[in-house]
Amino acid sequence: MRVLHVCTEVYPVVKTGGLADVTSALPLALTKLGCDVRILVPGFPSFQEYLIDKKLVFELPPRFNAFSIRVFVGTLPTNGLTVYFIDAPGLFDRPGNPYTNASNQDYLDNYRRFALLGWIAARLAEGMDTSWVPDVVHAHDWHAGLAPAYLRASEFWLKRKLAGSVFTVHNLAYQGNFPGHAFSEIDLPPHFFGVDGVEFHGQLSFIKAGLMYADKITTVSPTYAKEILRPENSFGLNGVLQKRIDDISGILNGVDTDVWNPAADEAIAIQYGLNSLASKAQCKTALQKETGLKVQNDAPLFCIVSRLAVQKGLDIVLDGLPEILGMGGQLIVLGTGDTSLESAFRNIAYAYPQSVSIHTGYDELKSHRVIAGSDIILLPSRYEPCGLTQLYGLRYGTLPLVHRVGGLADTVVNSSDENIKARTATGFTFDGFYYDAFMGSVRHAFALFKRKKEWQQIQHNAMRQQFTWEAAAKRYLALYEQVYRSHKPVS
Ligand code: ADP
Ligand code: GLC
Repeated sequence: MRVLHVCTEVYPVVKTGGLADVTSALPLALTKLGCDVRILVPGFPSFQEYLIDKKLVFELPPRFNAFSIRVFVGTLPTNGLTVYFIDAPGLFDRPGNPYTNASNQDYLDNYRRFALLGWIAARLAEGMDTSWVPDVVHAHDWHAGLAPAYLRASEFWLKRKLAGSVFTVHNLAYQGNFPGHAFSEIDLPPHFFGVDGVEFHGQLSFIKAGLMYADKITTVSPTYAKEILRPENSFGLNGVLQKRIDDISGILNGVDTDVWNPAADEAIAIQYGLNSLASKAQCKTALQKETGLKVQNDAPLFCIVSRLAVQKGLDIVLDGLPEILGMGGQLIVLGTGDTSLESAFRNIAYAYPQSVSIHTGYDELKSHRVIAGSDIILLPSRYEPCGLTQLYGLRYGTLPLVHRVGGLADTVVNSSDENIKARTATGFTFDGFYYDAFMGSVRHAFALFKRKKEWQQIQHNAMRQQFTWEAAAKRYLALYEQVYRSHKPVS
């Protein structure tokens, strides 16, 4: 089975969030199951620099405002994955964030940039690389949403079946909606701009394209797959999702244990595992020293490693901070995004330098030190398609405190008395995005933190959890087989 993953980010080359973790770990896990996987990405400068053994595969006349279009294939030196990248001067050769300019504004021509990504996926499915033609195209998030539409368009023009397609929604809130007139520039048949196509309230919608034209749709956790079917969680896409209800399923993300493993993590002060959990205290001390917090082991150290976005619900932490600090807690924030959240945390860190520390910016190694050195990781997200940092927290014995939604509900078990007794407790969950619910959970964590034996038992339960990419890859493979069987090309 040949599967082409289409996406904009791949760890460790280009990463703005969890998508990148998924698009490196999942292809690798699929490869281990015998699937023949390749990835297609835009030729952002970092991909061009990072990939090795690059070879030109094909060249096409300019379109979508690119000066030229050349598709190369190369290898990711970290894991040997084969990656196609589109070298399109004028479109992708821009430094920094893949989606936004230096002032953090979306590029106005994003519709052309990511239309080209989907369009090339269809060319590969048509056989432009004669040595490798995908059976299934797996598109991730809105940026790749047009890939299934271009596949259908190609089939319409060529009158033959091409690859089957899967579209994964990592976050329904990010939709890639553009003014309707953009449709005339993206090379789809006119009848695709309709209510059963890519048109969304007069706009061109990339996510709707993925949702309408893919053979199967997945989300990154089972609970999120159910949640988005409720109108209030559908970000306006309820009608579309209801139409596709029978083709939607949730497959939980996993943890890349080559990257996130406290027993072999070279980024942290001292490695530790289930049988050497006492060493975690040294990671805490090192982290407190590094961030200028008061060195103390007897008070819980909370952390946040996150995009600072409304989705993540961090305003509730700001509301709760006076009480958290009053109870003797400490907080480290590693995050970047919304400037008002950044400055709110910065002001508190300025007033309480021994208790609160904020590091704005993106720092992969620091994220490991923060997660290893903290006692509790906070994810009070308003909604969370899956969430990965709670899974990293579990592995590192850093108990997640989460709003019980989406993937957080699927992965964290509350430390209720019964669950502690049954040895299933792995963290703290609260229901409803309310101050009292959140703080009730925080107070519960403070109380349990004092009961050292029980705390350690919960850490053990957490560290034993197995959220593997192998399990996820098996489910994707079954889905690919289903799609392939029902979408077999006619020879
Ligand atoms: P989302 O994709 O919604 O941002 P996830 O929990 O799925 O949330 O994934 C976030 C990923 O980004 C994790 O790998 C996390 O460690 C990483 N991350 C988030 N913020 C930072 C940061 N400031 N520095 C380093 N890594 C970060
Ligand atoms: C999105 C979601 C996050 C998920 C990640 C990877 O960014 O916000 O919940 O873990 O994609 O699938």
